[in-house]
Amino acid sequence: MRRPIGVLLPPVRADRIRRGDLYRVLRMAVLEGVLSPGDRLPSTRQAAADYGVSRGLMEEVFQQLADEGLFQRSVGRGTFVAPEIARLERPARIKEQKPRSSSRSSRRGSAIAAQAGCREPDILQAFNAGIADTSEFPWRVWLRLQARAAREMGPAALNFADPRGLPHLREAVARYLAQFRGIRCTPRQVAIFNSAQQALSALTVLLLNRGDAVWIEDPCYLGARAAFDLAGAVTVPVTVDENGLVVETGVRRAPRARLAYVTPSHQYPTGVTLNLHRRIELLEWAGRNNSWVVEDDYDGEFRYAGQPLASLYSLDSGARVFYLGTLSKSMFVSLRLAYLVLPEELLEPLANVRTQMDGFTPALTQMTMSLFMDEGYFSSHLRRMRTVYRVKWKMLADGLVPMAAHGWTWSDNPAGMHLLVRHKRGEYVRQVARSSSLDLALLSRYRAARAQDDGLFLRFGALSPERLQAGVEDLAAVAMKT
Ligand SMILES: Cc1ncc(COP(=O)(O)O)c(C=O)c1O
Repeated sequence: MRRPIGVLLPPVRADRIRRGDLYRVLRMAVLEGVLSPGDRLPSTRQAAADYGVSRGLMEEVFQQLADEGLFQRSVGRGTFVAPEIARLERPARIKEQKPRSSSRSSRRGSAIAAQAGCREPDILQAFNAGIADTSEFPWRVWLRLQARAAREMGPAALNFADPRGLPHLREAVARYLAQFRGIRCTPRQVAIFNSAQQALSALTVLLLNRGDAVWIEDPCYLGARAAFDLAGAVTVPVTVDENGLVVETGVRRAPRARLAYVTPSHQYPTGVTLNLHRRIELLEWAGRNNSWVVEDDYDGEFRYAGQPLASLYSLDSGARVFYLGTLSKSMFVSLRLAYLVLPEELLEPLANVRTQMDGFTPALTQMTMSLFMDEGYFSSHLRRMRTVYRVKWKMLADGLVPMAAHGWTWSDNPAGMHLLVRHKRGEYVRQVARSSSLDLALLSRYRAARAQDDGLFLRFGALSPERLQAGVEDLAAVAMKT
């Protein structure tokens, strides 16, 4: 293996570089921390070639800095920034910047930047841990498959990848969806994205004009609302009751909406399921009106009673439904892989949109994931995680039982990695959230307008059983005391 050359050296602004220029620039780079203690410098030969000076001149500069104690040189090893530099008090590396007025952003940009998208908290605790539990992830298998993917793809993995997704992964996803989600589609209908968020953004570009009405659930997943806001669509919140989206309300409020976004298997955040009657109503409305439906099946794999529910997509005979899935929940969030099932004729236009966003998804990650699926590791991982989350879901639901006597209710749909507990008196719920040291999100945050009642959105995915148990005990204690 070739030895790494060393750090990149800072540029020198001069037509003709003199010894003094080089010396000053390198000295300041060390003192200001641009070069860090212990950094390895390139050889004098390499540095001389980079600066376009003679090797003799470079040698003189390095030696002077070594004489001053800023560089350390040793035969055979090379030249390094002296570790003792760390003890010097350095001039501020970056000058303090004056706060700038927001007038530098556009009006649209400021409005968008004023709201944050989905970010996980720095510290995972009860009950902000909506991300996947990775403690059981077969890491060694993943590393082995990653190496195999690199070997099988060879240097081709370093080039542009297909904006539609790697054919191998699109085939594996189509097979998986047929087996586990009752979705009949060909690999030519599957597009791979870095995230459900990105797939939504690409879809809005392709399908929506500014000002188009879009039904969103009320309460709604904030990521979806953000994607539609970003597209300049007019979001129309449609009530969700115990049977899911109240289609009738949507039809009354925006009969000609261009698109409806739904989470039918496990509504986010209420946890209810869209019943069959409403599913049919929704598809009929979309067919009559020539509208699209986006089915976000973000955690459809995790249902702990009976079989996973059939998808809305599988009921649709009119090719109006886009089926969106993410591997953020079923694998791990930083995998950055999601898939979209769409009508075949939209694949190429969507791929063109993608090339104008970030191009494509890294091929190596896609290849590793497809091997993970082909070799059966994905289904075993899902099976294992279903048990892990089922145990946690039950632990949480059991821990909430004492709160029922105080008027708290929650959905009894055993699914996913979150649970919403509600109470008729919103002020009381907000008081509980304020007096607790837990990280509790309020249902009102996900709603379009303030309502009488409120709720606590408890996300437990990555919590250990011990922390989950302690968390729910704390919550119940605060709720009873308040
Ligand atoms: C409703 C919903 N959709 C999608 C996602 C995940 O999407 P992504 O693939 O963008 O990480 C989440 C994650 O929390 C979610 O809650």
